[in-house]
Amino acid sequence: MSGFRAAKGDLEIESVTKSFGDFNAVDDLTLVVPRGSFFALLGPSGCGKTTTLRMVAGLEQPTLGRILIGDTDLTGSRPYERPVNTVFQSYALFPHLTVRDNVAFGPKRRGAKNALQLADEALDLVQLPHLASRKPAQLSGGQQQRVAVARALVNRPEVLLLDEPLGALDLKLRRQMQVELKRIQTEVGLTFIHVTHDQEEAMTMADTVAVMNHGRIEQMGPPAAMYDLPVTAFVANFVGQSNLGRGRITDRDGDFLVVDVHGSTVKVPHRRSQVQSGDILFGVRPEKVRIYRDRPTGVGNDMAATVLDVSFTGVATQYLVTVASGATWSVYEQNLDVEPIDLKPGDRVWMSWDPGHAFGVPAENAEVPKGPVLASEATSSDPSSGPALQDAQ
Ligand SMILES: Nc1ncnc2c1ncn2[C@@H]1O[C@H](COP(=O)(O)OP(=O)(O)OP(=O)(O)O)[C@@H](O)[C@H]1O
Ligand SMILES: [Mg+2]
Repeated sequence: MSGFRAAKGDLEIESVTKSFGDFNAVDDLTLVVPRGSFFALLGPSGCGKTTTLRMVAGLEQPTLGRILIGDTDLTGSRPYERPVNTVFQSYALFPHLTVRDNVAFGPKRRGAKNALQLADEALDLVQLPHLASRKPAQLSGGQQQRVAVARALVNRPEVLLLDEPLGALDLKLRRQMQVELKRIQTEVGLTFIHVTHDQEEAMTMADTVAVMNHGRIEQMGPPAAMYDLPVTAFVANFVGQSNLGRGRITDRDGDFLVVDVHGSTVKVPHRRSQVQSGDILFGVRPEKVRIYRDRPTGVGNDMAATVLDVSFTGVATQYLVTVASGATWSVYEQNLDVEPIDLKPGDRVWMSWDPGHAFGVPAENAEVPKGPVLASEATSSDPSSGPALQDAQ
């Protein structure tokens, strides 16, 4: 075996393109995943997530660019030469082998004398030692998933790649496994690259989230920072929901851009905007918007609207309202008031928000998942469920 497996350091993907014919599945991708971090690659179906992982694993070679761990260039090397293991969505366990033998398979093939001992250590880590002598068919989905993780960890990789490993599990088990995987990652201190199209999963698990679209990274950073300040319309609605409105920047007022929207004005902090002149999409998160019967005074930005739907969800109430342009906005209000305002569809209302919470993204070529969606239909794993873009479709 070559010395590659000992490579240590950050994972670097350097200007990598993968073409299939004249289609670029991955398009000039550059990113650094710091050693020991939990990194999530988040994006819609077909955006190039699996292709990226397969290149890191050595199952595909880049058309252009390089992949390194620390100072070691892995480009061109074989999968078994790399200090990388993958857990796939289909666990692909050997049905005729016991759990212990499934996990010991890799070390045995490498000729490790203590293969069974290594397997038992890995099973401890995923808290399955009591099921070591069962066959995969005698396990639940979540247990099989842990065996698959143990089978990858037993090889002591530098980087563990997880390609939608929780996709086959029901929601409750999925949440449990998210916590488990995070625990394991913290315990072993490996670099984890977790691929998912579930934004909530990415945000709860990862130190850093990269949002991928059409083979490129649109935005990358800590989950809370990305939620607070998305830099494209796509990210604004793929990571959580956003109310977006089209306007034109007409002036500057201190730290704020003045934006004309159908004859009325809203303000956006210039530091929170990716565009400083011309057309803009301003955005505000649903929980930052308050709803009133009468026009409030002195609260900053406001906008008239008509109630479309009211859904009581226990901790919060979600209002869907129609604004002047015809677009639908979503407002979440925590149920704090002793006497909540009693609104019904058709009521005329005012929405207001602190201008400091608004953000601005480019209006040109803006790509926004279509909405609106009712609270009862909104699931965290459905990225197509953002509210509509005001006047922009
Ligand atoms: N071997 C191949 N030949 C041709 N096109 C391919 C090949 N592998 C992938 N593609 C295309 O590259 C694009 C990216 O595929 P990829 O599997 O990386 O997507 P993904 O982000 O993992 O999507 P999903 O969430 O559905 O798994 C898709 O359009 C896919 O059809
Ligand atoms: Mg995939």
